[in-house]
Amino acid sequence: MISFIVHGGAWNIPNDMIDAHRVGVTSALRIGWKILEGGGSAIDAVEQAIRTMEENPTFDAGRGSFVNAMGEIELDASIMNGTTLRCGAVASVQNIRNPITVARTIMEKSENVLLTGLGAVRFAKENGIPTCKNDDLIVGRELQRWKQLQVQKRFSAKDAFKGTVPSDTVGAVALDANGMIAAGTSTGGTPNKYPGRVGDSPLIGCGTYADSGIGGVSCTGYGEAIIKVVLAKTVIDYMEMTGADCATAATYGINRLKSKVDGLGGVIVLDTQGRPSVAFNTPRMARAYRTSAMNADVIEV
Ligand code: GLY
Repeated sequence: MISFIVHGGAWNIPNDMIDAHRVGVTSALRIGWKILEGGGSAIDAVEQAIRTMEENPTFDAGRGSFVNAMGEIELDASIMNGTTLRCGAVASVQNIRNPITVARTIMEKSENVLLTGLGAVRFAKENGIPTCKNDDLIVGRELQRWKQLQVQKRFSAKDAFKGTVPSDTVGAVALDANGMIAAGTSTGGTPNKYPGRVGDSPLIGCGTYADSGIGGVSCTGYGEAIIKVVLAKTVIDYMEMTGADCATAATYGINRLKSKVDGLGGVIVLDTQGRPSVAFNTPRMARAYRTSAMNADVIEV
């Protein structure tokens, strides 16, 4: 059994952006699926699918991310191997196109889990991962948004999540032929964020979690709320402790996000049988999945 699921954010995706989201998650799904079909590892599938979405300016990850209050792009990402429980993450990293690859390299080549800012860039350079200019990551749409936000007196990312401000964090969860579940998440965070602000995505247990004996989860939504309910691990713990199926656990997690901290967001989940599930409490969520029990991709926005 192999199975793969990706997401491209949960928010009020406007009608004129649905196609771009469909194309983006479809392309990420196919890249990961091809790796799994060829006998590749869940970690490779997750990393490569997320890299594709980091390169796609539709999403708030890698190039195309939101700009912080200083006009800079700071990226967060994490990845986890559910068989070894090894994990790696970067937070507030600048001048990197593919933070998910730095996160994977930290997981595989260091004893650390999370590196931030300049330390993460130093580690990337030491390990031959290319750096880039801040301007290489900024797209015109986000420069305009940033300029508008500088003249706006008050702006709250929390309120923005209720409207049409994008929350295009990306993520993926894979089950490979060896029974390994891996999960990963990558984001530019929230629009006009305070410099150094870190959301849920690079925090293991909050934005990402995988345990090959239980399942894997990647989250999207308002990070400050997701952190408070440790959303990814909450979903995993619910499956383990109650024996609930992953759809029930995903819904439990999102209900808890809402009831405890009035949070908005979404989760993708796989269980050990490769059953995919999705839950969200935003108007829309971009996602795509496929399992070896299915004849075609499922793409939904
Ligand atoms: N969920 C992404 C963030 O809040 O940074």
